[in-house]
Amino acid sequence: MFGISREHFDEVDSTNARAKALALAGAPHGSAVTADFQSAGRGREDRSWQSGRAANLLVSFLVYPERPMEEWGGLSLLAGIAVHELLRESFTVAADLKWPNDVLVSGRKIAGVLIETGQIDGRAWAVIGVGVNVNQTNFDGDYLLPPTSLALECGRDADRQEVFSALCGQLDIWYARWRERGTASIATAWRARSGMLGRKAVVRDGDARLEVLAVDIAPDGALLVEDADGTRRLLYAGDVFPSERAHD
Ligand code: BTN
Repeated sequence: MFGISREHFDEVDSTNARAKALALAGAPHGSAVTADFQSAGRGREDRSWQSGRAANLLVSFLVYPERPMEEWGGLSLLAGIAVHELLRESFTVAADLKWPNDVLVSGRKIAGVLIETGQIDGRAWAVIGVGVNVNQTNFDGDYLLPPTSLALECGRDADRQEVFSALCGQLDIWYARWRERGTASIATAWRARSGMLGRKAVVRDGDARLEVLAVDIAPDGALLVEDADGTRRLLYAGDVFPSERAHD
């Protein structure tokens, strides 16, 4: 059960780092670490994750995935779906998924997911780190995508505890689906919640930019893209942006 136990910090380096420490201590599947503030919050691709103090949901869950490692791409997809569903069901906010795990509302990023994995004594673990912008309304600094929050979308503050509980409930549902039916099933659910497929996109790899068509999500969670010359390939990591935002 997600949130079976919860450790909360007023301030911590990164909840993902704390959840990793829990793995080394053999904590149970679904253990959660939350914080009001992270001094070294981590984002994907070695970026940092900035969040105002006591404004947002910063949470990491420890899991011991039962499926083979080739399927672990499904973890980031299912976490994105869980956030998408909590926004819709609990706050009537319509979101859209951007591969691999950004959650957007009208092109603005409301949540991100960072998966970290490892092994201890032959037992594989993964940490599902989720940052949801809840009550922050001022965002200073540089963002790859313009940010938004639940408060901005709903016009009123939201209860971070309610967001946490709703996320745990959704993760219970979507993780169970992944465990029982695998990544192909999660990819199908992800496809239905993404507006990026069938559209032009830009793949950013360091300073290089490549215009592609985002064709589909493969059964293993990779993004299938097609270059201008018709060459198709699968992406397993990196950043992909809607074409019109790519040169910001
Ligand atoms: C991204 O979009 O780049 C992923 C952001 C993930 C941020 C969350 S906040 C809670 C957890 N702890 C971290 O250090 N990162 C994740």
